Amino acid sequence: MLAKQLNFSLRDFNTFGIAAVCKELYIINSLEDLTDLPKDRTYKVLGGGSNVLCNDYIDASLIKIEIPGIEVVTQDDKTIDLEVGAGVVWHDLVQYAVSEGYGGLENLTLIPGTVGAAPVQNVGAYGVEQDQLMVSLRAYDLQTREAVSMSREDRQFGYRDSRFKSREKGRYVITHVTYRLSKVDHVIKTTYGAILDKLAEMDVTEPTIADVSRAVAAIRTFKLPDPREVPNAGSFFKNPVIPKPQFDDLLGERPDLVYYPLADDLYKVPAGWLIDQCGYRGKQVGNVGCYKNQALVIVNHGGATGAEIRAFSREIQRTVLDKFGIHLIPEVNHWGF
Ligand code: EPU
Repeated sequence: MLAKQLNFSLRDFNTFGIAAVCKELYIINSLEDLTDLPKDRTYKVLGGGSNVLCNDYIDASLIKIEIPGIEVVTQDDKTIDLEVGAGVVWHDLVQYAVSEGYGGLENLTLIPGTVGAAPVQNVGAYGVEQDQLMVSLRAYDLQTREAVSMSREDRQFGYRDSRFKSREKGRYVITHVTYRLSKVDHVIKTTYGAILDKLAEMDVTEPTIADVSRAVAAIRTFKLPDPREVPNAGSFFKNPVIPKPQFDDLLGERPDLVYYPLADDLYKVPAGWLIDQCGYRGKQVGNVGCYKNQALVIVNHGGATGAEIRAFSREIQRTVLDKFGIHLIPEVNHWGF
């Protein structure tokens, strides 16, 4: 039976802890609930609420995805395919995989949010993005009102991007995602600098997937605030990508620049570094600030409104643009503005 709530408070449903209210909210536990949704309106999809900045009132119909389950679809001697309900908490999936000895997801330890949100913005961390493990997904098409299956190739995944976020925004509701994990011969990925340092600190020379997961958890817990203690939505901006001439000029001015060379003469520069260089790390303005250990994370120090957070984020954008000539693009979705 489809449950509907009117004028629903989202305070506990967004990790910024903003006391926003939405017009109506439907709780979705199954594909059947989706087929029962009224057909005369559009919907915004809420997962773990960890990547959204809400204004006070959201004049929209929301659906909160709570589809459960982790099922084995197929396996052989080497790999196993798990089909996971979109409502499963991402980190619960990672913990399950690591404890069963299935490899692949360990670098994605402690990423906030739900499994259904992972393909939308193609979550990634420490050298791994979810599309490297995803085989397929199932979704409900709100336009045609049909359940559909999609392969990884269909989705055009990129850095924090996919077709769900761009040209097909709002059309599909992901219900299940299938990941292929290794049972043996795990590919241990430690090239991301901080992981190797952390493993060395832990005295681990031949890391297992559980060791990598522990190392990532330790790094993340230090750098990123726990939203239950200090409400936040992770990285607020994407890391900007700039062309070579601009990069050369910047490196000329700032030999200490942190950067990652990409293909096609493009360079990724960490937004956190740029913001830090503008003096924002640990800075507080009213109820809002940048986290002390990672300037890219905007935090709610208590009682902040969405508008206040947005104003602060715009001030950061202006300052970084003035100082470095780089326009930062938010990674966090804005609702109700
Ligand atoms: N840096 C600073 N000062 C800061 C923050 C960062 O100098 O205040 C420097 C760091 O020292 C490092 C570089 O900037 O040299 C990059 O920082 P970090 O390794 O913390 O990674 P990031 O690029 O800031 C990205 C993701 C994170 C992900 C980490 C690890 C984006 C927008 N963010 O952050 O994702 O956990 O890499 O892979 O791509 C998220 O999406 O919410 C998120 C937390």
